[in-house]
Amino acid sequence: MCGIVGYIGEREAKEVVITGLKRLEYRGYDSSGICIVGNQAINIYKEKGKIKELENLIEGMEIEGTVGIGHTRWATHGVPNQTNAHPHQSYSGRFTLVHNGIIENYKELKETYVPNVERLSETDTEIVVHLVDHFSTQGLATEEAFRKVLTLLEGSYALALVDAEEPKKLYAAKNKSPLLAGIGEGENMVASDATAMIHVTNQFKELKDEEYVVFDRNELTIKNYAGEVLEREVYSVDWDVSSVETGQYEHFMLKEIDEQPSVIRNIISKYQDENGMLNIAEELQGLPVPSRIYIVAAGTSYHAGLVGKTILEKIAKIPTEVHIASEYMYSEPLIEKNSLFIFISQSGETADSRGVLKQIKELGLPTLTITNVQGSTLYREADYQLLTHAGPEIAVASTKAYTAQIAVLSLFSIHLAERNGIEGNIDMFHELKMISTAMESLKDMKEKAKQIVDSYLTGKDKCFFIGRLQDFAVCLEGALKLKEISYIQAEGYAGGELKHGPIALIEDGTPVFVLLTDEKVAKNTRSNAQEVVARGANTCVISTKGFEEEGDAWVLPKVHPLLTPLVSVIPTQLISYYAALQRGCDVDKPRNLAKSVTVE
Ligand code: M6R
Repeated sequence: MCGIVGYIGEREAKEVVITGLKRLEYRGYDSSGICIVGNQAINIYKEKGKIKELENLIEGMEIEGTVGIGHTRWATHGVPNQTNAHPHQSYSGRFTLVHNGIIENYKELKETYVPNVERLSETDTEIVVHLVDHFSTQGLATEEAFRKVLTLLEGSYALALVDAEEPKKLYAAKNKSPLLAGIGEGENMVASDATAMIHVTNQFKELKDEEYVVFDRNELTIKNYAGEVLEREVYSVDWDVSSVETGQYEHFMLKEIDEQPSVIRNIISKYQDENGMLNIAEELQGLPVPSRIYIVAAGTSYHAGLVGKTILEKIAKIPTEVHIASEYMYSEPLIEKNSLFIFISQSGETADSRGVLKQIKELGLPTLTITNVQGSTLYREADYQLLTHAGPEIAVASTKAYTAQIAVLSLFSIHLAERNGIEGNIDMFHELKMISTAMESLKDMKEKAKQIVDSYLTGKDKCFFIGRLQDFAVCLEGALKLKEISYIQAEGYAGGELKHGPIALIEDGTPVFVLLTDEKVAKNTRSNAQEVVARGANTCVISTKGFEEEGDAWVLPKVHPLLTPLVSVIPTQLISYYAALQRGCDVDKPRNLAKSVTVE
């Protein structure tokens, strides 16, 4: 959580840094700030609220300078206000710093090294910048002082530091929080991710934990905490500026919902060879075929895991368990010997999942990360990696990442089935093409989603999603999406489970979305719908062509029964989107949330 940017070059740093921060706003948006090194002075501007507020603050000001750092915050230590917003300055005013992460030992460090320095903010970050000042006052050169501080810090951090006495150089470091270097011509950058630098460069260098970087506009050097210079390959991403802009859309969320058919096509093209065969073996070379699979994830990625479980069990015939990362971490479950752990994460940075990954690595079991972000922490730390190739997902509410994760899990299940000698499997590429076509047809059904919102959700503050089997998994996801962006209390329930308690909440007019895409249980779910209708519920049935009934609100095209979640989730995404719009909510930046959850 929180995003940082640092830039040196020939452009106006204010523009570069603010653009970068806007791209990182998904990481936190309760306050923001910039520090621009001008000819005569270090200029710091901070404001509570979204970056728009910071822009309003500096509108019309002449802020010149080609060196700058910036920060967008998701508060951990101290309430969101102007004082706690970053950047923070050291007691002498010489050093200025931005930070993403949590310094766990900041109190001890303050007591030990700078007990008499008055703290101006409630943040842990402020202590870090005072420490740099402290060690430089003791005679260390800035780089030495910075390195000394890095060796003392416990916790997670991505830092960027400006020294007013050496203003043509920036320092940055990382441990457990993401940070990348961007290499330009006559300009260099660092930022929490590539989206914040793509307007300047598409040449990146990965930074690993406990590494720092010193750079000016012409040179960028990566070092470890012993001060040794490290060589690092440059890489590029296969998307461009248009991927991180809304373009003709009002919100990223709608753009990302609409991108889903092309994401599925992209996944097919990445994982299919010229003979139409699955081309995944290279990524998975050496991976033992497991006798049990554990999927570990959070939020929407956990819901994708629930769908993946069924696909893996039906296709690869391997028993699969799905766990919430934050629960797994402290539950010490019994693990079968020949197991594979799969971590699903859009961002590849989720702290809860990373905590489990570390535990599993200590046990020596094989790990596979399925993620959208190449080079992310979970990507780097797992033994095997599969990319979801969905392109940057900016809206806090995850949509295309979910469908991409399920599509990649489906291909992975085919890989395992082939290695297990299971014959007669489905033609997954063909089925995914069908999915992409079905998704395409749903793009034109936004009016229907709006009408459903008007008829079922206007003035309501609670609702249910019910379904069985794969539909139940989608109900959990549909309910999460609706609650996180529209703030309507939404519960996803297994159709048969309602009568064991929650049916007590059904009143006249309670909206109940009924998902009905599995013929095997269609009749049972219809009965559950009748049970709530009898108690006054207003049911909105989303069914599949072939077993629809009169009065169903939305009939989806028929696709392979195992893969229906890839299609049935789209109405739930659209309904959530239009419900949030109807209520005037900030669709892309819902309250209290951040997209990348890097604290436990
Ligand atoms: O980056 P990850 O997939 O690991 O993130 C997990 C969750 O934080 C995430 O899916 C969250 O639930 C989304 N806001 C849901 O839309």
